[in-house]
Amino acid sequence: MCEPLPKERTIELRKKHIGPSCKVFFAKDPIKIVQAKGQYMFDERGERYLDCINNVAHVGHSHPEVTKAAVKQMELLNTNSRFLHDNLVQYAERLTSTLPEKLSVCYFVNSGSEANDLALRLARQCTGHEDVITLDSAYHGHVTSLIDISPYKFLQLGKEAKKDYVHVAPSPDIYRGKYREDHPDPGAAYAKEVYDIIMEVQQKNRKIAAFIAESMQSCGGQIIPPPGYFQKVAEYVHEAGGVFIADEVQVGFGRVGSHFWSFQLQGEDFVPDIVTMGKPIGNGHPMSCVVTTKEIAEAFGASGLEYFNTFGGNPVSCAIGMAVMDIIEKEGLRGNAVRVGNYLVELLNELKEKHELIGDIRGAGLFVGVDLVKDRQLRTPATAEAQHIIYKLKERRILLSADGPHRNVLKFKPPMCFTKEDAKTVVDAIDEFLTVLEAAAGNKSKMVTQGSKGIKRQENGESCSDISVEGEKTWSDQPKENVNNRQGSVCRQGRGFSSEKHSTKRIRT
Ligand SMILES: Cc1ncc(COP(=O)(O)O)c(C=O)c1O
Repeated sequence: MCEPLPKERTIELRKKHIGPSCKVFFAKDPIKIVQAKGQYMFDERGERYLDCINNVAHVGHSHPEVTKAAVKQMELLNTNSRFLHDNLVQYAERLTSTLPEKLSVCYFVNSGSEANDLALRLARQCTGHEDVITLDSAYHGHVTSLIDISPYKFLQLGKEAKKDYVHVAPSPDIYRGKYREDHPDPGAAYAKEVYDIIMEVQQKNRKIAAFIAESMQSCGGQIIPPPGYFQKVAEYVHEAGGVFIADEVQVGFGRVGSHFWSFQLQGEDFVPDIVTMGKPIGNGHPMSCVVTTKEIAEAFGASGLEYFNTFGGNPVSCAIGMAVMDIIEKEGLRGNAVRVGNYLVELLNELKEKHELIGDIRGAGLFVGVDLVKDRQLRTPATAEAQHIIYKLKERRILLSADGPHRNVLKFKPPMCFTKEDAKTVVDAIDEFLTVLEAAAGNKSKMVTQGSKGIKRQENGESCSDISVEGEKTWSDQPKENVNNRQGSVCRQGRGFSSEKHSTKRIRT
C-alpha cells in the first residue's frame, strides 16, 4: 500500500500525471475516498458519504466474501483461458442459467467497452453487414468503435462526427420524446421509427448488422422502453438480417429486482441475440462478458480467427464472479431492490405532490430517475436545479448524480444493499433543497411581476454548476454580489456568471 499523501499533494500529482480529460467529480472541491463499506464511502478524514450512484459496487463496497474469493484463488493460480479450469466453465454455466436458454455461449472480457466492441464484431461477422442502429443519447463505451455508436459522446464533437454506417433512432422516451404516455401505442410508434431507418438504409444499398440498446437507457435519462418496443424492433431488425444487442452493462444483474436482466422486463417473448454485461458482475473487479447464441458463436468461429483475451475469464475473475452471484442470492439482494426501490419511489411520489419541480419519476428496483422540470406542462428540463441539488447533497455527504440529454434527471443506482433508511435520508434532503429552490423561485417571480428594478429573470439555459469540470460554479460559490442579485433565483441568474467560461460537459458514473 502507498503512504497516504496530503489531499493537496494528491491533487497536484493528479494534475501533473493524469490525462486532463480524466475528470473528477466536483472538480472545484474533489472528494478523496480512502475506504468504502456496503453503501458508504469514507474520505481521508473519515467522513462518511452515502453512495446512491455506484452500481459497480453491486453487492456493497469491499464485500468480505468477494475479497475472500479473490484472495483464495489468487494464492492458488491466475492464468489465461488457454488452460482448462473449472472456474471458467462453472461460472459460464452459472451465468447462462440466469438467461433464456438460447443465450448459452460466453466470451469473457474485462470491461463494458470490450464487451460491446466484441458484440459488434460478432454481429458483423455473423451477418456480413456493417451498419448499426443506435439510440439517441446512448453511451456504449470508450473505444473508437463505440464512441462511433454513442451519440451521447460523438455529438459533443458536432453532428458531422456521425459515421455513415451509424443510424440514430429516437430514444423511446414516453415522457419527453416524440411519442408520449398519451399515445395509444408508443412502443409500436418508436419501433416504426427503427423500421423507417432500416428502409432508408436499404435504399442506399447498405445493410444492418445490429440494433444496439441498453435495456433501460441510463446515461440517456433513465428511460424505460414502452411495452412491445423491443419485440417489434427485434422483428424488423431480424427481417433486415441484423441482430439485436442488449447492453446490460449498467442495468443488469438483478438491479431491477423482479428479474435478473432488465430486458426481461419486456416480457418472455423478447430474447436478444447478444447480451453484454460488465460493471456490477465483478463488484469492482474489472471483468465483463458477452453472451450469445450457439449459431452466432459458430458464425464468429467460422472466420478461422482465434479469439484470445489475456485476462478475460481468468480463474480469479471467475471466482469473484461466482462470489457475487452467491451473495445476491444469500443476501436476497433482488428482493431488497424491489422493497427499497418501491419505498424510494413511494417517497419520491409524495415529494412530487409537494414540489412542482418534479416532473416525472420512473424506474424499476434500484434504478430510479427523477426528472426535474421548470414547467410541468412544457416539461422544460430543470438542468441548473438538478445540478444545484447534486451539489447541496454533496455538502450533506450524499452522492447522487444527474444525467440524461439535459442533465436534469436525478439518477439513483446505489449498491444493492441500500436500505429504506438510506432512501429516507436522501429523499428528506432533496425535499429540503427543493423547498428552498421553489421558495426562492417564487420570491423572484413575485419581484419580477412587481417590477422590481435591477432584477430580471434570465432564461439563458445555462447550468449554474457542473459536476465534472474545472472552474465550475455552484450557487454557493458565487461572489456575494451575485447572490444578492439572484434574490434566491434558481441558479439561472446570468450576470457576472454567464461571461465566465462555463463548460457543460458531464461525467458518467
Ligand atoms: C451502458 C454502458 N455500456 C458500456 C459502458 C462501458 O463500460 P466500461 O466503462 O466498463 O468500458 C458503459 C460505461 O459507463 C455504459 O454505461
